[in-house]
Amino acid sequence: MVILIKKRGCKRDRRGKMKEELSREVQVANWINSVDKVVVFTGAGVSTESGIPDFRSPGGLWDRYDPNDFLYQKIISSEESRKKYWKMHSELYYIIIEAEPNPSHYALVDLDKMGKLDCLITQNIDNLHQKAGLDENKILELHGNTMKVACLSCHNSYTRKEIQEWLENGIEVPCCEKCKGILKPTTIAFGQSMPVRETEEAERKSRNCELFIAMGSSLVVHPAALMPLYAKEGGARLVIINLTPTPYDGQADLVISGKAGEVFPEILATVK
Ligand code: APR
Ligand code: ZN
Repeated sequence: MVILIKKRGCKRDRRGKMKEELSREVQVANWINSVDKVVVFTGAGVSTESGIPDFRSPGGLWDRYDPNDFLYQKIISSEESRKKYWKMHSELYYIIIEAEPNPSHYALVDLDKMGKLDCLITQNIDNLHQKAGLDENKILELHGNTMKVACLSCHNSYTRKEIQEWLENGIEVPCCEKCKGILKPTTIAFGQSMPVRETEEAERKSRNCELFIAMGSSLVVHPAALMPLYAKEGGARLVIINLTPTPYDGQADLVISGKAGEVFPEILATVK
């Protein structure tokens, strides 16, 4: 018996019964119901409906800024690069702090309340998962968080708000009050080493889950983008929810091309 789950419509199986094809969202809902825990992986695409541009879509951040200017080696070795880096972060500051979570963030909180969320692995630095009320203990931030700033020498930490005031008072390159060291948001720049605990935990959780849902990520930045593959290697089902194709669509058990803020709440509404 062949059941095609990716096409809507009706098919007649050998027993002549009309089989209503399950919609993709219903299929994912059934998979969520059939497992104990789900691992969800998010990227910048889940925050575009909150008004924060992603990186690689037309009009995204890397259309406006050259990511090569923000390589970690450049940031720590060149005052000019730090000036550009802080200018970008300063321009993004109000976009991020004024952004409100959208239905995809809240649907994740609902999934957790249902006792179905094992953990959320996110590449996002915008703090919107936390702002939506998701349990901090369930969140693994692979690329850090923009709400904190730390000195790279003495590790003295500052709030991002405090440093924004410095920037608005004309300081172009903030440095540490204690040791004059380099200050940087606690986000992971290209070429900077990944946070060890979060990365190891994310790999362990991905390899041991039964259902892995990747949402709003182009899945091109490594090692974060290895997590869906670890899940497949571990025998999990892989679902990808994204507006545009990703390099891993071929490995996915189901691909839904749509807005996370529309698709994911619809899936949750179907989960018992
Ligand atoms: N719903 C679903 N998908 C969306 C939506 C939406 N509302 N809006 C955008 N997308 C998709 C885009 O089509 C794109 O494929 O989300 C993806 C976002 O991809 P990127 O911009 O590459 O963001 P991300 O995958 O998070 O980038 C990874 O790269 O620049 C670094 O450190 C940064 O964490 C970031 C990493
Ligand atoms: Zn310092």
